[in-house]
Amino acid sequence: MSYQSGRHFLQIPGPTNVPDRVLRALSAPTIDHRGPEFSKFALEVLHGVKRVFQTSGYVVIYPSSGTGAWEAALVNTLSPGDKVLMFEIGHFATLWRNMAEKLGLTVEFAPTDWRRGVDPALVEERLSGDQNHEIKSVMVVHNETSTGCTSRMREIREAIDRAGHPALLMVDTISSLGSIDYRHDEWGLMSPSVARRRACCCRPVSVSTPSARKPSPRPNLRV
Ligand SMILES: Cc1ncc(COP(=O)(O)O)c(C=O)c1O
Repeated sequence: MSYQSGRHFLQIPGPTNVPDRVLRALSAPTIDHRGPEFSKFALEVLHGVKRVFQTSGYVVIYPSSGTGAWEAALVNTLSPGDKVLMFEIGHFATLWRNMAEKLGLTVEFAPTDWRRGVDPALVEERLSGDQNHEIKSVMVVHNETSTGCTSRMREIREAIDRAGHPALLMVDTISSLGSIDYRHDEWGLMSPSVARRRACCCRPVSVSTPSARKPSPRPNLRV
């Protein structure tokens, strides 16, 4: 193997480089995960991360890639056959759609272009047309990393409310959380969301905040 001097500096949209002080903290010796020190530390982290999401609800920390967090969010809130509304705004929105289909969800994939985030007017139009409330969830990528386009979550929330539709609003915040304004409680979101390796500059770990609204029964619970 050839020797490379210097320091490898990753220059892609994500994962981002982990700051030195975080790297140093990661090199600390292992502590007993059943001991008092760990439980105090874990509670501090679980409490502190609420600030990042701007939520007073519970936050779940889940060790996985962003794709793993997508899957956990889908299988724990929806059931095969459920209909969901997604938007073709870029590469990651398309991958999320593929996963939803593999898991047996019926996806209404609204065609749009890769030059903008999700259009709130389109959300309102699609939901207003769903008179029987068959759509169980509206799923939006907050910041579409492949294009750099951001969806306006507050306006999307307002569009859902104007349509008078009860669908859960799920959002992928994989590359937005910590860098773009995100107000989980105020915007009534359900997030499969992921604070990892992008703006939060950390190792693979996913952070998810359950919804303020009650999801449908989940026969295949698999966290
Ligand atoms: C917006 C967005 N969603 C999902 C993913 C998938 O995350 P991962 O590559 O960790 O599985 C990425 C990865 O860059 C992303 O930027």
